[in-house]
Order: sequence, then structure tokens, then C-alpha cells
Amino acid sequence: MSQAREKSQIRDFALAEQGELKIDWVREHMPLLRQLEEQFRQTQPFAGKRISMCLHLEAKTAYLALVVQAGGADVAIAASNPLSTQDDVVAGLVKRGVTAFGWYGATQEEYQAHLREVLDHDPIALIDDGADLATILHQERPEQAARIVGGCEETTTGIIRLRAMSDEGILKYPMIAVNDADCKHLFDNRYGTGQSVWDGVMRTTNLVIAGKTVVVVGYGWCGKGVAMRAKGLGAKVIVTEVDPIRAVEAAMDGFSVMPIVEAAAHGDFFITVTGNQYVIHKAAMERMKDGAILGNAGHFDVEVSKPDLESLAVSVRRVRPNIDEYKLADGRRIYLIAEGRLVNLAAGDGHPAEVMDMTFALQALGLREVVQHSYAPGLHKIPRELDLEVARMRLQSWGVTIDQLTDQQVAYLHSWQ
Ligand SMILES: NC(=O)c1ccc[n+]([C@@H]2O[C@H](COP(=O)([O-])OP(=O)(O)OC[C@H]3O[C@@H](n4cnc5c(N)ncnc54)[C@H](O)[C@@H]3O)[C@@H](O)[C@H]2O)c1
Repeated sequence: MSQAREKSQIRDFALAEQGELKIDWVREHMPLLRQLEEQFRQTQPFAGKRISMCLHLEAKTAYLALVVQAGGADVAIAASNPLSTQDDVVAGLVKRGVTAFGWYGATQEEYQAHLREVLDHDPIALIDDGADLATILHQERPEQAARIVGGCEETTTGIIRLRAMSDEGILKYPMIAVNDADCKHLFDNRYGTGQSVWDGVMRTTNLVIAGKTVVVVGYGWCGKGVAMRAKGLGAKVIVTEVDPIRAVEAAMDGFSVMPIVEAAAHGDFFITVTGNQYVIHKAAMERMKDGAILGNAGHFDVEVSKPDLESLAVSVRRVRPNIDEYKLADGRRIYLIAEGRLVNLAAGDGHPAEVMDMTFALQALGLREVVQHSYAPGLHKIPRELDLEVARMRLQSWGVTIDQLTDQQVAYLHSWQ
């Protein structure tokens, strides 16, 4: 038995072949990562280094783990969300030599145990998604945290937590804020979330979006994508915000803007994408129409207040896979998709492969950067050159070329007289 198979804690190794097919499918559609895989195989930037990751355990992240492995790393990976884990992909990954911890539907205790297992791998570098590994390292394992050379953070919520740690001066190692790269949030958060949220909602509910009223809570990078695609599907879109600039943006993009309690009475579908907690709460739920459907696309399952929903409900039952019906005392029914976890991952396959190709190219390049250079502890931007390199690779993969500044134009742009 291979070392990876011996150490891993997964659902069923017999699913490996099916998982490998899924990984091979996305590999086919991720030309940037394929290019980096080849480059890393030759240059071995992670030779002999142990690297731990906490990411959604599905085919695209599996391929990222294999690209890092091709660069010489001994990789261990844990699931960042029990409902987005695909057991066959995990098995396929283990078959290809990556140590993995996680299965679909893991309990909170099992999930927490898997995060500790991936840290027991004793990594020198990390890829984190939501800063869960960072939190455990700093709260429970400060000596181990001091040994970490650095890492990369995938998502907005993780960056918020790391920034708070960095501002307090307690972050013990350097982290690259991959989410803040232009080639990440402009495409992954906007186009990736925009498409995959509706894929998740449509395949789970099997309902039409055209003609319905969609309330998008939060008009950040993800919210813009979710609203844009809802409009494209024929929905009437209402945006709720707390940031006046983003609210103006939403209004000038053609959407109605109002407070959540007002929007509550109109919505057929509600999608939360704020990175904040309890943005849909009791006062809003009390005004919702019978049959309102709630989904969350923010990182944690705290955006829809489940305590409020539970306190209002007289009964709860599962009416379809991934849909729970909360019946209120007056007979109204409110439906929650995927227990309020990321609807696009817990009730879908996540972002399209081509979008994650750019994000994970940044992760792979960011990881190489932080491992090969001595960054100070704290949160760091990804070097602009790497961001531009990913955009160039994307254009090249499409066969698209663009113009170059002439020397005269460069001089003009740097002159003031
Ligand atoms: N589903 C996915 O695949 C996916 C992908 C990327 C990011 N995310 C997650 O989605 C969340 C949002 O990410 P983002 O990049 O759009 O962040 P962002 O910071 O660009 O946008 C969040 C927006 O929510 C608004 N907001 C905060 N509290 C609010 C409230 N109570 N009511 C209304 N609006 C409120 C903020 O003002 C802001 O405009 C984060 O948790 C992030 O980690 C999910």
C-alpha cells in the first residue's frame, strides 16, 4: 500500500478510478496549470518540501495539488468544507500519491480533526482557504506556526481574518493574498461565482429563473457576478448593500437597491455573498413570501441566520436533496439550499475549470514565490509581474495577442510637460 493511502482518511478508495476521470477532465480544460505542471516538473521548485493545503476537495483543487506535487512537494490536503468534498476525487488523488483527509458530509468534529491531521504532516508551506489552518496554528500550535516559511490564501474571508492577525502583529509567517490579485477576484469571484451559483441553484431546485425576483445580498466582486448572471437569465434583480459606493454601483448597473427587510417581501430567490454573518435575519424572514428560496455563496454558512430560521419554524423537513423546507407558524414555507453552505460548491461542481485555471495558476506561482524568497511575516500582495504573467498565459491559451506600448508612448505616459 502506498504511503499516501496508508495515511489518508477518506470515504472509499474503490472510487479512485471515477475520481481520476474527473481530474483528467478538468486537466484538459486547465491549460495554464498544465503549462506550470510541465515547468515545475523540470525545475522542481518544491523538491523534498512538505506542503499542506486546505481547499474544497473537488477535481480542480485536486489538479492543483498534483501540479504542486509535480514540483517535487510531498502534499497533504484536507477538505475546507464537508459538503463540497467529492469522495471519488479524493480517492483518485490518493491513488496519485497525495495524502488526503476528508469525506462528504463529515461532522464538525471530523472536519476539525482532518484540519489537524493535515497540519500533522508538518508542512513548511500552506495553501489555506478561509484561514482555518492559520487559526489553528496560531491558537493551538504556535511553535509549529513559527516553522512555516509561508503560504497563500484563496478567499476574501480568509484575507479578512489574516489581515486582522497581521494588523495585530501576531501573524507568524508570510501569506500571499491570492484573492487580491486582479487575475483572481476580477474573474473567479465575478464570472466564476456568477455562473456557478446559478448552476447550483438551477440543478438543485429545477426551477425557472426568468421572470422571478432575485435578491442579491452584497454587491462585492461575487455579488456583481451573481446579479449580472441573474439579469441575463431574465430575473428582476434587487441588490442590498451596506456600502454606499457599492450601492451606487449597483443602482447604476441597473438594479433596484433597498434594505433587506424591504427586499424580503419581493424575493423569490435570495443569494447572500457578503462574507458577513446573519445578513438575512428574522425581521427579513418574517416578511418573506411563501416558497422563498435562500442560498448562500459567501465562504461560511453564517450569512443566512439558521438560528432565526429554526426559531421561526414549526417544522423542518428535507424535500429534495440539498433543500430543507422550514414551515412557519402561519403556514408559509422558506427553503434553504445546502444548509446555507456555499451553494455553488455544496450543491454544484464549483467554478468552471477555465476560471479556476487562472486562480490556481496564481496559487501555484504564489506558492513558488513565497517558498523561494524570504518574505517577512504578514500579509503580502502577489507581485504584479505574476498577476500579469497569468493574464498573458490566459491570452496565449486563447491565441489572442494585444498591442504593446511604443517607446514614444512610454515616454509620453511618464512625462508631465
Ligand atoms: N462561492 C464562491 O465560490 C466564492 C468565491 C469567491 C469568494 N467567495 C466568498 O464570498 C464572499 C464575498 O466575497 P467578495 O469577494 O464578493 O467580497 P467583497 O468584499 O468584494 O464584497 C462583499 C460585499 O458585501 C457587502 N456587505 C457586507 N455586509 C453586508 C450586509 N449586512 N448587507 C448587505 N451587504 C453587505 C459589503 O459592503 C461588500 O460590498 C466572501 O465570503 C468570499 O470568501 C465565495
